[in-house]
Amino acid sequence: MRVLVLSDIHSNLEALDACLRAAPSHDLVVNLGDIVGYGASPNEAAERSRELGHHIVRGNHDKACTGQMDLHDFNPVAAAAALWTQESLKPENLEWLSRVLPGPMPLTEAQLVADSAASRESAAAEVPLLVHGSPLDEDEYVISIADALDVLMRSSVRLTFFGHTHIQGGFSLRADVGGQSFRPGYSTQDEREEISMSLAAGTRYLINPGSVGQPRDGDWRAAFLMFDNSASQVTFYRVPYDIAGAQKRIVGAKLPARLASRLSEGR
Ligand SMILES: [Fe+2]
Repeated sequence: MRVLVLSDIHSNLEALDACLRAAPSHDLVVNLGDIVGYGASPNEAAERSRELGHHIVRGNHDKACTGQMDLHDFNPVAAAAALWTQESLKPENLEWLSRVLPGPMPLTEAQLVADSAASRESAAAEVPLLVHGSPLDEDEYVISIADALDVLMRSSVRLTFFGHTHIQGGFSLRADVGGQSFRPGYSTQDEREEISMSLAAGTRYLINPGSVGQPRDGDWRAAFLMFDNSASQVTFYRVPYDIAGAQKRIVGAKLPARLASRLSEGR
């Protein structure tokens, strides 16, 4: 079974469309939240996300833009974008977005469970978990190896997909090796690229597909990943997109100009 994993679309329609065009054939789409906020296409991002399936966990911006969270934790630019988004969302999209559930959400798709190990206990551990921030707190940023170990040492789940940091890559923990972090090492800055990684037995993973619509790992290209559970493999992708188009919309919507310029920097 092949799963397309998206996160942090942030109302960037141009980036989302580029990811959907570039993604190889898949059986299922999962979405790790922050569908809206920052970008200028919240309705399109919400409508596309809804069409792609129901394996969605909410992000902090989804909460903020639907009035479910106080904006005092947001910086002024993020807060301005959240208010603009709340006013710009059609009522049906606002209503749908406000009903997206918090993680953690087990990816208990029938085929995935059938493909996994025979015993019930190990089958449960094989079911991937979907979260926005971390399994312990939906709003937590898992940035350092210490953050990741805190999660991995308490987890019995082999594979957890997370977003929120907008940094593609992840962390692993194996008893005899300890904790490690990994980032895909691409060779170009502006071409479509993919890098595959096999998941080792006896190892627990926290894996971030990166951000579709506002990467912050120094790479402007839209990010996503594919998970192939029968091959026990993830493949990270970076794809160029119509960044000028996304920026033009942000400026046209009179959103803060910084939200347009940062897309070029991948910061
Ligand atoms: Fe985000």
